[in-house]
Amino acid sequence: MAPSDARARAAELRELLNRALIAYHVDDDPIMEDAAYDVLYDELAGIEAESPDLVTPDSPTQRVGAPVSDRFRKVRHRTPMGSLDKVTTDEAIAKWAEDVGRRLGTGEPVAFVLEPKIDGLAINLTYTDNVLAQGATRGDGVEGEDVSPNLRTIRTIPLAMVGGGVPGTIEVRGEVYMPLSGFRALNERLVAEGKKPTPNPRNAAAGSLRQKDPSVTASRPLSFWAYGVGAHAGVELVTHWEALQWLKGHGFPINPFAERVETVEEVAARAHAWEVRRAELDYEIDGIVIKVDAFDQQARLGSLHERPRFARAFKWAPMTAVTRLEKIAIRVGRTGALNPWAILAPVEVGGVTISRATLHNEEDINRKEIREGDDVIVQRAGDVIPQIVGPAGPHRKGTRRFRMPERCPLCGTAVVKPEGEAMHRCPNRACPSRGLETLINWVMAAADIEGVGEQTVRTLWDEGIVRSIPELYRLTREKLTELDGFAETSAGNAVAAIEASKAIPFSRVLFGLNIPDVGWVTAQTLARHFGTVDALVHATQEELVEAEGIGPERAEAIAEWFRDEDNRRLVDELRSLGLRFEAGEEERPAEGPLTGSRYVVTGTLESMTREQAEAALEALGAKVSDSVSSKTTGIVVGEEPGRSKLAKAEKAGVPLLTEADLVALLGRR
Ligand code: IVH
Repeated sequence: MAPSDARARAAELRELLNRALIAYHVDDDPIMEDAAYDVLYDELAGIEAESPDLVTPDSPTQRVGAPVSDRFRKVRHRTPMGSLDKVTTDEAIAKWAEDVGRRLGTGEPVAFVLEPKIDGLAINLTYTDNVLAQGATRGDGVEGEDVSPNLRTIRTIPLAMVGGGVPGTIEVRGEVYMPLSGFRALNERLVAEGKKPTPNPRNAAAGSLRQKDPSVTASRPLSFWAYGVGAHAGVELVTHWEALQWLKGHGFPINPFAERVETVEEVAARAHAWEVRRAELDYEIDGIVIKVDAFDQQARLGSLHERPRFARAFKWAPMTAVTRLEKIAIRVGRTGALNPWAILAPVEVGGVTISRATLHNEEDINRKEIREGDDVIVQRAGDVIPQIVGPAGPHRKGTRRFRMPERCPLCGTAVVKPEGEAMHRCPNRACPSRGLETLINWVMAAADIEGVGEQTVRTLWDEGIVRSIPELYRLTREKLTELDGFAETSAGNAVAAIEASKAIPFSRVLFGLNIPDVGWVTAQTLARHFGTVDALVHATQEELVEAEGIGPERAEAIAEWFRDEDNRRLVDELRSLGLRFEAGEEERPAEGPLTGSRYVVTGTLESMTREQAEAALEALGAKVSDSVSSKTTGIVVGEEPGRSKLAKAEKAGVPLLTEADLVALLGRR
């Protein structure tokens, strides 16, 4: 960045971040997502690190915490309340631990304590001669606000220490938070009263605690976890772990998942185990706090800018960044669905540059207020396709709400939106998109041909070289070398891979044919149940319904597809090319730890496609079906699940599994 640009950008960021801080801490009415704040803050810190002369006293990087408002009396903490530096990768944890080891001196064993990083607000409770004398918010770390009357309404905060016997003054630190169940109930109530709902549990907690009238606080479902001690003269404590046990013994709630480990390898492993647990908790956590256990080691490590060297906040995915949404483009899928997707100004998220993201449908886009031209927050969860969380801040640049086109961008046919469905569709069965997308699905998913990518398929299509699956199998090396990016060898390899893909199992062939409503699971069911394509071609609707999980509507759609002359010709052509149309070894169900169980997967998952989830379950021996019955062991529910499936599952008492549950189920095996 040119120096003048850096100066202007730093000023812009300072102004925006400071405004965001006031909105958040003083007004309890945030103007941007936390993730966006973090990203912008890091950008400013980066500029300042590069050009220290750009640091100004009013830069948000120069303060430890929140500004103090004048609503409450200010109080000084006996010992300051610092904040935590964050780490996001295993490497960063290892590097930090290495630094800790180096500072402490060689060979000294270091134990760590891991605790959930509760997403609430930090408070300092001062007990004098066993009795709660004062409770304050963290404020700027040195001075906070006296909110004692409000804190006294929180039932999990002891008004007097249990067991007694502690003379003098002790500071107990912890997090006030609002459980998710309480948060939902509160918002329902606020909305019913015609008031504005709170944006997230942490703001709900902060807002509830900073009420002028303590009876309002009392009516809010707040709770508390203690996670440490401040000044504690007269109490002999040697380690943090001991302090936690001591607190517990004196009546303070200690998070039951806190744990102590002896090596840094365990730290990383345990921290990751938390990713799965996170989804099951009734409170939000935004990471794990890792602390060096021994107090004398903590003291020797010291701190830098009020951030202790003895602790780190480990924050895992989702990794987020802010970038410009250039355009919302439409892609027509192989079933005719109009899928909107985002073209983004390229941005790095967790080490990967991304320039596109999925968007679900018109309603979702407008509910999230996503508009072309806006700065948006993008999020990558694990290794999957990035998503747009929402607009990044108050600076709305895009003014137009998004509208789906009225006509199919490929064939011009008027688009329809079937009753009860979220997606718009092009009803034209001859729409070129279906042919192209079928081909892409064949190459990328059904046959999974190595060395031929989506872009190649598009080019082959555009040039008119390959417009159908049989044409793909007639593609020659010579023809391929005419395309950019193919040399003799790569073209030879690609043609060989195409040839080898003729051996894919019957069920994959069926899946790749793009028969309406026949996904991965149904293709397998059909292959198993009918055994050969001839049996399938001649199957009546009644016969089709006999196959597991196939309802009358789907049966009719399948029968209709096979009655179509063109489709039958396609089957014959592929058969004469040598593709498999008989069930084989692969169609026999796998034996495994999940044998005997039946699962249904519905909706879109984040970390894998539905097909991958189903295949993974089947590989462990589970039966995967498309329809819910009382025999279903569990239903995995992704985003935008099938409503009737969900209703059926709830009625039949089938357990609902989140994606995290699924990952745990697969991972545990
Ligand atoms: S220890 C020197 N432990 O995270 C700071 N903090 O950025 C020591 N938090 O303001 C803090 N859970 O609001 C600690 N188990 C935990 C925590 C925790 C949540 C919050 C707290 C603090 C912020 C640190």
